[in-house]
Order: sequence, then structure tokens, then C-alpha cells
Amino acid sequence: MEFNAELLVRENIKQMKAYSSARDEFSGEANIFLDANENSFGSPLPVNYNRYPDPLQAAVKEKIAQIKGVPPKNIFLGNGSDEAIDLLFRVFCEPGQDNVIILPPTYGMYEVCAEMNNVRLKKVPLTSSFQLNLEAIEEAIDAHTKIIFVCSPNNPTGNSINRSDIEVLLNNFDGLVVIDEAYINYAKQKTFIAELTEYPNLVLLQTFSKAWGLAALRLGMAFAGQPVINYLNKVKYPYNINQATQQLALKALDNVSQVNSWVKTTVEQREWLSQQLAGLAITERVYPSDANFVLAKMKGPTAIYNSLAEKGIIVRDRSRVVLCDDCLRITIGTPPENEILINELKTYSA
Ligand SMILES: Cc1ncc(COP(=O)(O)O)c(C=O)c1O
Repeated sequence: MEFNAELLVRENIKQMKAYSSARDEFSGEANIFLDANENSFGSPLPVNYNRYPDPLQAAVKEKIAQIKGVPPKNIFLGNGSDEAIDLLFRVFCEPGQDNVIILPPTYGMYEVCAEMNNVRLKKVPLTSSFQLNLEAIEEAIDAHTKIIFVCSPNNPTGNSINRSDIEVLLNNFDGLVVIDEAYINYAKQKTFIAELTEYPNLVLLQTFSKAWGLAALRLGMAFAGQPVINYLNKVKYPYNINQATQQLALKALDNVSQVNSWVKTTVEQREWLSQQLAGLAITERVYPSDANFVLAKMKGPTAIYNSLAEKGIIVRDRSRVVLCDDCLRITIGTPPENEILINELKTYSA
């Protein structure tokens, strides 16, 4: 069977009529807007936010399109990529009937969204080298499997998933293969964005929360074929990306060079931090990372976590996560922050 979004989508989503907002219905030039029950006077702020924002974020998408080389019609913008994850469940997964496959240890929101939407989750753990177990994935797929979530580079392990293995899924699975590339800017492996035209079942997630340094604005991207994008737009809240976020994202998109420079420093610091951690007596293993964090297997991770927290340094204790026994996940900070962390760990170690 070939991939066909129309066959995959829930019947109620196909049949429903999308909300039509005032700004959807009129898009020409006008001076007096009395159509949306806004406050016509302004906002009690130095800047006005009294008008509803563009529901489909045309200006932001145009700029993203230039940078990513993907047409605006293949871009969905969400309130973080978390919104796109949730909407994929809502559009494609019939509660109580369909299922999705996740590959633990991985990003926690796939499971949260599955539970929230009453969609069965099939967990196929990664291998001990944190790669796909293709045979087990194939066994887990059934007629009701709608989505496979692949996080690459993977959170919390930090490694990229082998490209050829992801291609096996794209070539053989008739549902959606979602590749979450939240950390792709830090990776040696290249993005799958050029493959969008080749695979109609591919959905790529990227975000402004990591390399772009805009986590507080909540802006995430999904790239996919037009049928998938159109359904995401159909079910999203009408004004899911607020005006301040749209304006600030437009400004940020003019400053790619700053982002690239931070990525370069972060990657250098990642290598430095990995080496320093590996040299500590309390470290058992530092896993190679393609992301802006490292996973490290420690002797007594929870005691180390608590000791750092007492000093005001917070890392992530992942020691109870499958395949991550005794592991801490440490985000790459600024060079001074990384140095303070290593000094604290040296003191603790001694
Ligand atoms: C793999 C992965 N995907 C998505 C997200 C969420 O991104 P956003 O802030 O765009 O919702 C995160 C955040 O930690 C993540 O690690």
C-alpha cells in the first residue's frame, strides 16, 4: 500500500468544518476594522497588540522558507513543536483504536500526548548502542499503527540515528514517520529536509527553542507534504502563534550568523566538557553527542545531582530512564558555566 494522507486521517477530522476567523475571511486593504470585536483604541502598553495576529503566519513562513529551502505551503508553525506533536495525534490517531510507536529512551512528550489522546503506545527500545531495532519495529507495526516517532539527534542519549535505518522506515511504513530534529543544528549528520519531496509520509519537526535561543517565545516548525500540513492547520487553534512571537521571530530570522556562531561554540564546548567529564574518577562513561547536551554514566548519579543542586547547578537526573542507568544529562552551558560545573565535580570527586 502506498502512503495516502486521506486514508490515514481520522474520519471526523476529514468531515469537520474548520473555524473561520474574521482575519481568515477578509485579507484585502482596509483602514477601519470592525469585524473581530477587538478593542479599537489600542493596548495599555507602549506597543499595540489589540489586533488578532495572522492566523497562518505568512511573513514568518516566507522567511523560514528562504532559510530552509522549503515552500511556505509545506510549513506548519506551532506553539512549540509540542503543539505539532499533539496535533499529529489528534489528526491521525483514533482514540482507543489506533497506536503509535516510540523508541525509548526518548523525548517524553510523545508518551504524554499519546496518553492525553487515549492512543495506545507501543514502545520499542533502542539497541544498547542507542540505534533502531528495525526487526522489533517491524514486528510492532500493525494495521492500526499510524505514526513512528524517531528523535534524531535523540533526547536524552544525544546521538543521531543512522540515516539508512530511518530510510528503511520511510520506504516501508505506510503511516507517518516523524523525525524530531530539535537538536539538528548541533549534529554532524545532515537534516532530512531535502528528502521531504521524496517521502510523502515524512514529517520533520524543528524548533526555535534550542539553537535559535527562543524557548520562551514558544515557536516550533513542522515540515511535511501539503495534505499533512493542511490537516494540522485545520485543527489548530485559530491564532496559535501570538503577534509578539511572530514579530520577534521575524527579527531573529535576520540574525542567522549569531545562531551559527553560538552553535559553533556549543559544539566546541561539548567536546571540551565531554573530555573533562571523561577524566573524572566519578565518571564511568560519556556518550558521544550530536546535540547541545551530553549523557554521562556516573558513579552515584543521584548524590552527584544533589550535590550540584546544593551549589545552584541543575542538571537532569536520567538514572531511572530505560537504558540510561546511572546517567545524568548535562546541557552545554557558556564556557564559564561549564568551567564552574567541572570544578565542582572535581571537588566532589576528590
Ligand atoms: C526532542 C525534542 N523535541 C521537541 C522538544 C520541544 O520543543 P518546543 O520547545 O519547540 O516545544 C524538545 C524539548 O526539549 C525536545 O527535546
